Amino acid sequence: MIQTIPTQPIAGQKPGTSGLRKKTPVFMETPYLENYVQSIFDGIGGVEGKTLVVGGDGRYFNDRAIGVILRMAAANGAARCIVGQGGLLSTPAASHLIRKRSADGGLILSASHNPGGPEADFGLKYNGPNGGPASESVTDQIFARTLDISQYRIWDGAAPDIGLIGEAQLGPMLVEVIDPITDYADLMESLFDFPAIRAVFAGGFRVCFDAMHAITGPYAQEILEKRLGAAPGAVVNGTPSPDFGGGHPDPNPIWAHELMTTMYGPDAPDFGAASDGDGDRNMIVGRGCYVSPSDSLAVLADLAHLAPGYAEGLAGVARSMPTSAAVDRVAAAKGIDCFETPTGWKFFGNLLDAGRATLCGEESAGTGSNHVREKDGLWAVLLWLNILAATGKSVAELMADHWARYGRNYYSRHDYEEVQSDAANALIADLRAELPALPGKTFGALTVESADEFSYDDPVDGSHAAGQGLRVFFTNGARAVLRLSGTGTAGATLRVYLEALETDPDQLQHDPQTALKDVIAAIDVISGIAARTGRSKPDVIT
Ligand code: G1P
Ligand code: ZN
Repeated sequence: MIQTIPTQPIAGQKPGTSGLRKKTPVFMETPYLENYVQSIFDGIGGVEGKTLVVGGDGRYFNDRAIGVILRMAAANGAARCIVGQGGLLSTPAASHLIRKRSADGGLILSASHNPGGPEADFGLKYNGPNGGPASESVTDQIFARTLDISQYRIWDGAAPDIGLIGEAQLGPMLVEVIDPITDYADLMESLFDFPAIRAVFAGGFRVCFDAMHAITGPYAQEILEKRLGAAPGAVVNGTPSPDFGGGHPDPNPIWAHELMTTMYGPDAPDFGAASDGDGDRNMIVGRGCYVSPSDSLAVLADLAHLAPGYAEGLAGVARSMPTSAAVDRVAAAKGIDCFETPTGWKFFGNLLDAGRATLCGEESAGTGSNHVREKDGLWAVLLWLNILAATGKSVAELMADHWARYGRNYYSRHDYEEVQSDAANALIADLRAELPALPGKTFGALTVESADEFSYDDPVDGSHAAGQGLRVFFTNGARAVLRLSGTGTAGATLRVYLEALETDPDQLQHDPQTALKDVIAAIDVISGIAARTGRSKPDVIT
C-alpha cells in the first residue's frame, strides 16, 4: 500500500561535486534520506513506469538505505529496480548496468573515498540514462525540490531480500537482484587483451592490487585472479567491509601507505594498484615508482591504442582544469582535441556522449573512457597492465620514456581540511578580488603572467558553469589553482593545486615538492593561506 507522508524541507541538502554527502547519522535520521530520494524522483520528472539501477559500495547503512529507496520507488510507480546482490555495485559497474539495460537512471549509494561507519560518511547520487552523474541542470532541479518538498511516498511493507539473486515483487514493482560482477568483468574482457596479460602473469610478473576493504575486492578477484591468472593473494584487503576495515579507502600514497611500503620494499612486485570505496578511483605504482594521476592520464592517452578497445586511436581527451597539462602535450603531439572542464565527472558526460572525447581524467585519481560514464578504477589498472604487456617495459621505464619525450609536469595537491568555513570563503573572495592586480608582480622567484577565475562553456550543449576555481599562471609556465571542495562533510576543504613544467632532460627526476617549492612559496604569499587558516602545513599532500 502506498503511504504518503507529510514532510518539511531540510536545510543543506544541496548536492555537491558528486551527489549529496553527509555524516552517516544525518542520513539515518528520518526523513533525511526520504526527503532526498523523493526530491530526486520529483527532480527527474517522476519515476512512473521507469527502470532504475540501485546499488552502493557496501558502507554502513547501505543495505537499509536501499530498502527505503526500493519502497519509495515502488510507491512512486517505478516499474523495475535492478539491484546488485547484497546491495553492492561499484560506481563504474552501476554506470555500465544503466547503459547495458537501457535503464532510465540509477541511484548509487557511496561517499566514495570518505570513511564509512556509524559516525563516518554516507552519500547518494543520481545518475542519468547515459550512466553518468546528473548534469548541472538536473542537479539544480533536485536541489530546488529539496527546498519546497512537502510529502514523500513510501510502500508500506518490507522490501524483498536483496541477498539472493532473482526477482521479487514489491507491490506493483519488480525487484531484480543480479550478480554485480559478471557484466562488468565481461566489459573489461571486451576492451583489453586478456590473453596477453595472462601470458605476462604466467611468466612470473607479479601484481598487488589493494582493494582497501572496499567494493573492488570481488571485482578484482574475478578479473585479476580468476580470469587473468594472477597469483592467489594478488588482491589484498579484498573483502568489502561496512567501515572499510576502519580505514580511509582513498587510493593515494597517504592512505594506501601499506601498498606504497610494499612497492618501495625489497621484494616489491612489478605492479601495484589500489582503488577507492566505490571503485571509481585508482592509484598506479610501479616497483619504486609512484605515478601521479595526471601523469597516468597522459601515459594512457599516449599508449591506449595498444589495447584492442582503443586500437583505432582517440577522438579526443578531456581533463578537469586542476589536472596537470601533461595530457595536453600528448594531445598536441597526436593532433587531437584536449578539453579542459570544471572539477567533477559530470562535465565529461556530454563530450563522451558526443564522441568528442574518448579518454578523460582528473588529478584526484580518476581516469576513464567512453566505455561507461564514470571514472573507473579497475579499468585504469587493466589499461596499464595491457600497456605493460604490449611494451614489455616496466612502469619506471615507461615514465622515463614519457618525460624524455614530452617533458615533465611536476604536480602536487595540498589539501587543508576542516578549515573554518568563514575563513575559507573569505580567502577565496579576497583572492578573487585581487586577481586583476596580480599580473606583473613578483613573489620570490616567480612573476605572475596572468590570473583568472575558471569558467566553462560546454561545447556540446552550450551550458555555462562559472566560479570553477582561481588560477594564477607564472611566467615560467608554473601554475597554482585554488578552489573549495564540493564533497566534504565537515567545515571547508581548501584545495591548492601546484604545477611546474620541466623540459630540461637533466632535471626530470626531482621530488615534486622540491621541484614545486617556488610556486608553493608564491601562492602562500599571494593568498595568505598560513595566516588565514592558522595552518603551517597542509593536512594531506598528494
Ligand atoms: C573531489 C575531486 C574531484 C572528483 C570528486 C568526486 O571533488 O577533487 O576531482 O570528481 O571528488 O570523486 P572536490 O572535493 O574537490 O569537490
Ligand atoms: Zn569514488
